[in-house]
Parts: sequence; structure tokens; C-alpha cells
Amino acid sequence: MTDAPILVTGGAGFIGSNLIDALLAQGHQVRVLDDLSTGKRSNLPDDSRLQFIEGSVADASLVERAVDGCRAVVHLAAVASVQASVDDPVGTHQSNFIGTLNVCEAMRRAGVRRVLFASSAAVYGNNGDGGAVDEDTPKAPLTPYAADKLASEHYLEFYRRRHGLEPAIFRFFNIYGPRQDPSSPYSGVISIFTERAQKGLPISVFGDGEQTRDFFYVADLVSILQQALDVPVVEEGAVNVGLNHATSLNQLLADIGAVSGGLPPVKHLPARLGDIRHSCANNARLLQRYRMPPATEMREGLARLLSS
Ligand code: NAD
Ligand code: UD1
Repeated sequence: MTDAPILVTGGAGFIGSNLIDALLAQGHQVRVLDDLSTGKRSNLPDDSRLQFIEGSVADASLVERAVDGCRAVVHLAAVASVQASVDDPVGTHQSNFIGTLNVCEAMRRAGVRRVLFASSAAVYGNNGDGGAVDEDTPKAPLTPYAADKLASEHYLEFYRRRHGLEPAIFRFFNIYGPRQDPSSPYSGVISIFTERAQKGLPISVFGDGEQTRDFFYVADLVSILQQALDVPVVEEGAVNVGLNHATSLNQLLADIGAVSGGLPPVKHLPARLGDIRHSCANNARLLQRYRMPPATEMREGLARLLSS
């Protein structure tokens, strides 16, 4: 296939690099814009169909160059850590909000319409109240991260109405799997816990461990993103990406222990400021709009991660 490239911002990161493997396997040309702040060049294969641009989505002229000539954009570049946004709201805003605005504006100028956007369950705050949230649940962004994601959604909808963009907005719940970088305290909890379990290092739980998340395996997400690039029409409105299954951190630790054959010592530290207590997706809209692959259950996903 010799189509125009698909631009993946943040393509050198965890979700982006998993998606790019699948896009290349499908025969697509891919262009990546990534500042390598958390992503790695080594996450990407050496492939003549892949073009890599190092730089920030906060740089409007660079984004314009990256978008030019593309057939679609998958906009993943962002500071992915909620806690990092609490520690550095100004720096985070450049990537997580200004970056989105730059992508919208560059697409408008270049006449590129389809864009997939990585929003987040964080936009609901604690409004789930222990139950599953659907897309119409009132929003309660508790952190700069969540506020930037929600504002980005609103801007994408503005560009849809005013300039004909076709944004497919996904609210990812907690994605996990191979290449999620465990090396920083800002990393996703499963990558940190599994690495520490493998190395026999102590594990820190912030709070009592009874907080819950709806964990979703990255390969299942990639399948949905591939479909969203190809559907003839993107229906309006964001789509939750979760399993409608809540797992507590204490249960997660039990599962990791079962899959890896034991657990190192676990200590409890104070809960993080702005940390959501319970997060679970009502995924009816996802199931209605996309073909959901047979969902990867937690222990199977952990086993695949640990053997990767
Ligand atoms: P990641 O940190 O592995 O990937 C983010 C990528 O973006 C990295 O390669 C990083 O170098 C790049 N990046 C960051 N700021 C940039 C900038 N200003 N310019 C260019 N590149 C930049 O994290 P991930 O888990 O793969 O997250 C991908 C996207 O999905 C993010 O937008 C994140 O907010 C969103 N998301 C992730 C999850 C999850 O559970 N992992 C859930 C909801 C939403
Ligand atoms: C995660 C994603 C965020 C996404 C959101 C959607 C990352 C880094 N964050 O945020 O991009 O928008 O899901 O729901 O991918 N914890 C510990 N010990 C640790 C690390 C974390 O107890 O060493 C706890 C946290 O306090 C939190 C839970 O584990 O209660 C999950 O934390 P984390 O993986 O950072 O994810 P979210 O904050 O849910």
C-alpha cells in the first residue's frame, strides 16, 4: 500500500509504539512526532516506511510540518502522568493543551480531517461514585492533566463544527502492556508493580490500596484505534475505552503475585493529592461503535506483559 502517512504524535511512547507496529503490519506509511521526553527511539522499528521527527507538539511550526501531507493524525503526545501535571502544571499545559491546539490548527491549514485523540477517564474525577461512568456523566477534572484533556476535547469539537475536522475522541481508562516504561515514579502502576515484583524490590501503595481502576490491555486498544482510522464516518461524542470491570490495587497485587510466583514486601504511603478513588467505564458506546476484540483478562494480560 502506498498511501499518505499517518502521523502519530507521541509515537515513541508506550501506546504509540504498539499502534505503530500494527499500522506498519497493515502496510501503512507512518510519521512520528515525539520529543522523547518519556518515549524512546528504540521503541520504534528500523523501517523505511517510518519517518521520525524529533520535537515538541508545543512547537506550532514543527507541528505544521509534521501534519503536512498526512492522511490522518493520531494525537497521543502528552505528559501521561496525572501526578506530573500536579507537580508541573505550566510545563504540562504546553504539551497537553497547546499541543492539541497546534494539531487542530495545523490540520485545518493542511486540510487533514481525521484525528484520533487520547483523552482520559480522568475527566470524570470522582463522579462515578464507585459505579461505572458513561460518557454523559458530569465532568469533574481534579488535576491540570484532566483539565487539559477536557479542554482539548472541547477544542476538537469546535474544530469539528467550524472547520470540518473528524475527531474520534477516546477516553482511555488505565491502559497497560509491553513497553509501558516502569522507570519513573510517574509511570503507570502496573508497569511499576510488575517490574518491582520481578526484581524482588519493595512495592509502594499510595493509600489503602482499595482504590480501583478499569485496566485495559494495550493490544485491545490498538485494535480499536485501527478501526477508528478507517470508519467512514466518526460519530460525534467521546467514547470510553474500558472493560466495565474495576480492579483494586490490592486485587492487582494478588494477581501479580499469582502470575509471577510471589510478591516482594508491600508498604503503604499517603494517598496522592487529586488521586481518583474509583474509576470504571460504562463501555456500551464502545461496543456499539467498534468491534471489541475478545477482552484480555487481567491475569492473561499480566502473563503476556511479564513474558514480553
Ligand atoms: P507515554 O509517556 O509512553 O507516551 C507519550 C509520548 O508522548 C512519549 O513518547 C513522549 O516522549 C511523547 N511526548 C510527551 N510530550 C510531548 C511533546 N510535548 N511533544 C512531542 N511528544 C511528546 O504514555 P502513554 O501511556 O503511551 O500515553 C499516550 C497518550 O495516551 C497520552 O496522551 C496519555 O495522556 C493518554 N492516556 C494514557 C493512558 C494510560 O493508561 N496509559 C490513559 C488515558 C490516556
Ligand atoms: C492513568 C494514566 C493516565 C490516564 C488515567 C486514566 C499513566 C502514568 N497514567 O492515571 O495517563 O489518563 O490512568 O484513568 O499511565 N500507585 C501506587 N503506587 C505506585 C504508582 C501508582 O499506589 O507506585 C497508585 C496511584 O496512586 C493510583 C493508581 O495506582 O491510585 C493508579 O496510578 P497510575 O498508574 O499513575 O494511573 P492513574 O493516575 O489512574
